[in-house]
Amino acid sequence: MSTAGNDSLWYKDAIIYQTHVRAFCDGNGDGIGDFRGLMSKLDYVQALGVTAIWLLPFYPSPLKDDGYDIADYSGVHPMYGTLQDFMDFLDEAHRRGLRVITELVVNHTSDQHPWFQRARHSPPDSEWRDFYVWSDTVDRYSGARIIFKDFEISNWAWDPIAGAYYWHRFYSSQPDLNYDNPLVKQAVIATMDDWLDLGVDGLRLDAVPYLYEREGTNCENLPETHQVLKELRAHIDQRYPGRMLLGEANQWPQDAVAYFGEGDECHAAFHFPVMPRLYMALSKEDRSPIVDILRQTPPIPENSQWAIFLRNHDELTLEMVTEEDRQYMWDTYAKDARARINLGIRRRLAPLMNNDWRKIELMNCFLLSLPGTPIIYYGDEIGMGDNYYLADRNGVRTPMQWNAERNAGFSSANPQQLYLPVISDPEYRRETVNVEVQQGNPHSLLAWTRRAIMVRQQHKAFGRGTFTVVESGNRHVLAYTRCHADNCILVVANLSQAAQCVDLDLSAFTGSTPVELFGRNAFPVVSDTPYRLALGAHEFFWFDLVG
Ligand code: NOJ
Ligand code: CA
Repeated sequence: MSTAGNDSLWYKDAIIYQTHVRAFCDGNGDGIGDFRGLMSKLDYVQALGVTAIWLLPFYPSPLKDDGYDIADYSGVHPMYGTLQDFMDFLDEAHRRGLRVITELVVNHTSDQHPWFQRARHSPPDSEWRDFYVWSDTVDRYSGARIIFKDFEISNWAWDPIAGAYYWHRFYSSQPDLNYDNPLVKQAVIATMDDWLDLGVDGLRLDAVPYLYEREGTNCENLPETHQVLKELRAHIDQRYPGRMLLGEANQWPQDAVAYFGEGDECHAAFHFPVMPRLYMALSKEDRSPIVDILRQTPPIPENSQWAIFLRNHDELTLEMVTEEDRQYMWDTYAKDARARINLGIRRRLAPLMNNDWRKIELMNCFLLSLPGTPIIYYGDEIGMGDNYYLADRNGVRTPMQWNAERNAGFSSANPQQLYLPVISDPEYRRETVNVEVQQGNPHSLLAWTRRAIMVRQQHKAFGRGTFTVVESGNRHVLAYTRCHADNCILVVANLSQAAQCVDLDLSAFTGSTPVELFGRNAFPVVSDTPYRLALGAHEFFWFDLVG
């Protein structure tokens, strides 16, 4: 059973830290991060102030897609440890009040999964063959786009053993499961139960829009998919109350919102479109991209929550922007074509910000104060760099940099043995960017991040509050309130690299005193005239509007 508290809406107040077991800490010196290593760093995660950890897939896998190609849903990849190690980790996390979110990759398996092996060897009309989606031609479902467009030219791949094509939305080594077969749904529910029985607090539903295929559609967001989600949710509500489903649906707001159903599908879902717009607003020094996308975002059910992020383990996806904006983002943030992959940018936050800490802090200001539960990607709290010369998305998945020693303190192995090389770029290498150095400096990014998280944790309005844009008369400055119960937070953020002055319309708060949240200093009382503030380059304020 989960032991980390009993507030069933915990995901609304959560701050999630995303990491990969393989990348965090190597406990046995073989060059690969593992559960023992991760456990040894839980104090660090706890001290950051986050409330939950999301782990990328750690199951047995040929690792053609870094573990999103699962060969056994119930086990732990031996290089990360044993199931017992996982359970020990879970206990240790819970003991620290940290919840644990794992991956339920529901759309596809590895081609090495026994289900696929059985399917390809079974007769064409059998229920076993029917675990996957087969065809004699490549003409079916031609309305579906290709997602890994730098790597695949078709969503169909030929299987010589079955003598038929099978359907795959990602790599051809990841055949899609066939949800039209009731046995598949049963098997997925059994997998879900396995992990929930062990005590995990939440499951991220990978690639959830693609569960069904129907001719004449783009094979995304189909009603049948939502029906399955309702069944999974009902099952959780009945058997595992307090656990959470986090849907990964990289979709426009109106389609993404559908993943909450009527509060009877996913508890939480990623808000993909807001992410690239944070970067656009910053480089254009204009609030409109953020304001526009949030205006287009429909309200969500009371028990639901967005999950927001700046970066993650994938490319910074530009699927949810127009063609023109995509080109703008590439031209601005990925001038070197090697930094581009599929429809995105394979870079980390700090390099995207040219290592300008005021910009990094401003982006984190949005992450921690816009509506939704923030997800921090490991290493970004110390401003880690990337390496886009590495294949696929590996350049943003390099070892965590703990100190200036060999392998950045990640592993005692021969450096050549590491699963990926430590960042060696002069600006971001381990001597400069590491946890130990930043722990010793109260003005480091790490210290600032802890502080910002601590401040956020003092106000439920950040996780649960309403969102209202405040007119500032200056497009370079984005101002908004977040109100919950009788508490209102005012955020004022300068997107420009020049100092700016604003006259805020705070008429709804006449008589209240803005108290700046980092220093607890009271600012002048709000009167019935516009509230004037000056902000330095990329500066922001969080105020508690008191009284
Ligand atoms: C989304 C995951 O975030 C990504 O890393 C993976 O490659 C695809 N889903 C396929 O599982
Ligand atoms: Ca290891």
